[in-house]
Amino acid sequence: MKRILTGDRPTGRLHLGHYVGSLKNRVKLQDEYECFFIIADLHTLTTRPEKTGELKDNIFQMVLDYLSVGIDPKKSTIYIQSQIPEVCELAVIFANLTTVPRLERMPTLKDVMRDADITIPSYGLLGYPILQAADILMVQANLVPVGKDQQSHVEVAREVAKDFNRTYSQVFPEPKALIGEVPTLPGTDGSSKMSKSAGNVINLSDSAEEVEKKVMSMYTDPKRIHSTDPGTVENNPVFIYLDAFGSPSDREQITKYKELYREGRVGDIEVKKYLIKILNNFLQPIRENRARYERDPELVERILKEGTEKARKEAQKTLSEVKKAMKLDYFG
Ligand code: TRP
Repeated sequence: MKRILTGDRPTGRLHLGHYVGSLKNRVKLQDEYECFFIIADLHTLTTRPEKTGELKDNIFQMVLDYLSVGIDPKKSTIYIQSQIPEVCELAVIFANLTTVPRLERMPTLKDVMRDADITIPSYGLLGYPILQAADILMVQANLVPVGKDQQSHVEVAREVAKDFNRTYSQVFPEPKALIGEVPTLPGTDGSSKMSKSAGNVINLSDSAEEVEKKVMSMYTDPKRIHSTDPGTVENNPVFIYLDAFGSPSDREQITKYKELYREGRVGDIEVKKYLIKILNNFLQPIRENRARYERDPELVERILKEGTEKARKEAQKTLSEVKKAMKLDYFG
């Protein structure tokens, strides 16, 4: 069975954009592949080294998000990066197989520095893709499902794997990025991407009331003043959400609302009320799952501990192969 590794930095709660962009796909992939989901807490140090106090709670909330959407700990391994020291060991070795200019040219570096208001990158931030390569290669992953923005990082991991294999001996498979065709979900404010920093998100853990409030103030078609004006459905986040979260039995009604909206025969409020219903139908089972796990924090901790132990065994196995290939296995 082929192996998959992907994951997230624990920076906060996951939202509908994460669901559409990756979680939905992960739930599906767990039946076809051996999946590892890394909670990359060490990667958060690259931009926010002083914010370590938040990590524990963020990790817990993120695992609740994972479990409540259907990531199944019986099928997949969920683990915490910082509890696997072998990852750092491997990153130190890999750091010698990539040049500084190669890392300076990463398109993500510029973006992250801009977003985090950093003028001079730390050694750790520059090495972000190296640490990620260690995550990926540590479990000998074949496929890495990520968004387009992470593609260049998987490419680094691939180059490192090739270089290692050529320099020492064949240890690593060459991992490939698996880029979903899923479009990015726009924010509730109509901007192109749902993102926590923009404050335009609907979280998987939002209550029915929060969803109602957020949807009622959503951006729609700015050119439409009266409900009798013909409206635009394309790029209208309300309709994009309806398409993304409506179930098959809602399709007919959604199509009808689109027609009426285009003809100026339905008001924004009515469509928004319908969207609230659709989103709450979608989120209700997720909320129930979440509440069940929230009532049993020991279970959540056990899932994380067992996942981390399992991933660590893989890490140790890989590292001993690495040391053997490099002739660093001095004591046999
Ligand atoms: N860099 C990824 C992100 O910001 C998170 C991540 C860390 C990751 N290690 C990984 C993703 C390994 C895929 C594989 O989204």
